[in-house]
Amino acid sequence: ERLGVAPEQVTVGNGADGIIMRTCMAYLDEGSEVIVSRSSFPVYDQFTHAMRGTLVKTPLKNYCLDLEAMAQAIGDKTRLIFVCNPNNPTGTVVTAAQVDAFMARIPDHVLVAFDEAYYEFVDFDEYPDTLQYIREGRPNVMTIRTLSKSYGLAGVRVGYAIASPEILAPLDRVKEPFAVNLLAQVAGIAALEDDEFLNRSVAANRAGKRFLYGEFDRLGLRYVESQGNFVLVEIGPQAVDVQKRLLARGVIVRPCAHYDLPDFLRISVGSQAQNVRLIEALKEEVAANG
Ligand SMILES: Cc1ncc(COP(=O)(O)O)c(C=O)c1O
Repeated sequence: ERLGVAPEQVTVGNGADGIIMRTCMAYLDEGSEVIVSRSSFPVYDQFTHAMRGTLVKTPLKNYCLDLEAMAQAIGDKTRLIFVCNPNNPTGTVVTAAQVDAFMARIPDHVLVAFDEAYYEFVDFDEYPDTLQYIREGRPNVMTIRTLSKSYGLAGVRVGYAIASPEILAPLDRVKEPFAVNLLAQVAGIAALEDDEFLNRSVAANRAGKRFLYGEFDRLGLRYVESQGNFVLVEIGPQAVDVQKRLLARGVIVRPCAHYDLPDFLRISVGSQAQNVRLIEALKEEVAANG
């Protein structure tokens, strides 16, 4: 109802990860090609490998997914394209116009999965409304969302996909019988009704990003402006050393070498106290770096 789609156009999963897994199980065979960005969410890679599919990776363009390159990479064996928007770990988004041009180039044998795990945090006029393609009845589009991020329920494991019933039917055939447990269903419904929590979560994230941007500027660290709840920060060749020293101090940030961004750390927005603690630790460790 909230999304303006019919119940048959939604399936619920054990987190967005569960949806990604079932999408790969349903649509990939040995040798199927999956197009992803070289710097994107690694779970796409994991389940493509599990299905003995082949990854075709395109480079970023100015820290954004390059939809033109992704469309260019489509071949006879392409089955699936994951468009992570906002993209993890860069926090960047592709625009409605870019997505429109991209969708016009997608042949019928290819399914496009828009992963909108960070959807509720987005504050950008040109962000695409991908559900519009599904409402229009496009047969080869899916949008994935989750209650793990803005709703704060990562441990509860509730994600969902919106697509035509024909696209979702194969996902339901590979579903474990009880993919989303009863407690998760109850928590998920309560969370969806709690607009006040969602608004607070989104506002806190926005304020936290503003604070972190100001502090990164003061420290002379370059960063990529993010539409998610994390920021990609350029540290330099010592990024992994800095990450390990932060970890030893109890501050957890993500190194990005496996995202093909070895000089960067992905830093999550926390509470204000956590953000201050992160900045204090980062200041010392970056200074120690020379
Ligand atoms: C882009 C993206 N998709 C999906 C997920 C998985 O979310 P969930 O906790 O719902 O499985 C994440 C979590 O890190 C993510 O960053």
